[in-house]
Amino acid sequence: MKSFIGSVDFFKGNDPEEIAKKYGTPLYVYNEDIVRDRMLRVAGVIRKYPYRANYSCKTNTNLEILKIANSVGVNADAMSEGEMRMLLRAGFSPDRIFYVPNNVSSEEMQFAIDNNIMTSLDSLDQLDRFARLCPGGRCAVRINPGVGAGHHEKVVTAGKKTKFGIAEEDIDGIFETAKKYDLKIVGINQHVGSQYMDPKPFLEAVDNLLRIAMRFNKLEFIDFGGGYGIPYHKLDDEAEYDMEAFSREFTKKLDVFVREYGCAPLFKSEPGRYCVAEGGVLLGRVHALKQNSGVKYVGTDVGMNVLVRPSMYDSWHDIEVISEGKVVERVNGRMEKVTVCGNICESGDVLCRDREMPKIKDEDLICVLDAGAYGYSMCSSYNSRPRPAEVLICSDGSVRLIRRRETYDDMFALYEGC
Ligand SMILES: Cc1ncc(COP(=O)(O)O)c(C=O)c1O
Repeated sequence: MKSFIGSVDFFKGNDPEEIAKKYGTPLYVYNEDIVRDRMLRVAGVIRKYPYRANYSCKTNTNLEILKIANSVGVNADAMSEGEMRMLLRAGFSPDRIFYVPNNVSSEEMQFAIDNNIMTSLDSLDQLDRFARLCPGGRCAVRINPGVGAGHHEKVVTAGKKTKFGIAEEDIDGIFETAKKYDLKIVGINQHVGSQYMDPKPFLEAVDNLLRIAMRFNKLEFIDFGGGYGIPYHKLDDEAEYDMEAFSREFTKKLDVFVREYGCAPLFKSEPGRYCVAEGGVLLGRVHALKQNSGVKYVGTDVGMNVLVRPSMYDSWHDIEVISEGKVVERVNGRMEKVTVCGNICESGDVLCRDREMPKIKDEDLICVLDAGAYGYSMCSSYNSRPRPAEVLICSDGSVRLIRRRETYDDMFALYEGC
């Protein structure tokens, strides 16, 4: 693919240079149509049985993105009190929120209890804490199905080497705690990992969870977690995750289970990245070009504080170059090998190393693709750099600021009253 932003008309006819000048850089830009489309895809994965997709909002909690999710009709999961509060503020009713925390305080659990938000406990210890706060209550438990998957060991969230979930051998402990406090375990959930393009590990984990589900009586729901991958190498024509093939295989497994279990509980999944990654790009400005020991460095304002994935997970993001409002074509013979980095005082502050890119000039824009997931939500003000702004290209083509840039006054405000 020559250009993703060109092929999908990401900016809907707006000039990215004008957007960058008006709102400044670095700047997250989202395309409403793409976000809606991906959310609708995940909402339709299972059609034969009662099914709900929960948008895993840790990926992107911008209020406008949450409002889009709400209007599409997907449910949502939250990992923290902050995420629950954001979802409530975006208009999600408590019964559409699933709280999946780990290692949290009684105060945080109490917030979910007070707001009637279904909670999943991910250790026997946390289950006991919940039971003491809410004897006779209803909750779910997170199972560690013993297999994990993902693009990096830091995103594998099941299997023998992670902190998440209750291991199969500890399931009797769940029943003991439930009995002791008259708790009703109404659901089980899992999440095996993130960014898998091959559905095999996920389907294996489905088998495991369904086998484990047979040990629970009258479950109201079974939640299989998220993890569906997106093609981060789209400029090299990487194929999309085959949602239809996945849906067929997934449904076959549910067929077998429903026959044996005698009824179909509500089935759920928890996709995050798939919903929003491709609907977001990150615009940054080139401020320096230099050679160091034979390496050509392109210095930009997209530091690791703005997008941490490349330095945290060695993640690949395709990058397009925009010069005077036009995407610079990737043409053989007119490319050069460069290392693109940010403005943070860390040697790991690198977006990509030794990558063939179209020739870049000072003051050009870089457009980092697939930045809608785990982008802004993981950014920080490291080096005392204010967090970036976010804008939405709405379905009608208008451009709307959906979170202003952090200011130095915002930073100083935290010291007021100290
Ligand atoms: C419990 C849980 N559910 C869902 C997700 C969403 O995963 P993804 O963005 O890969 O779909 C995560 C991400 O780590 C998670 O921890």
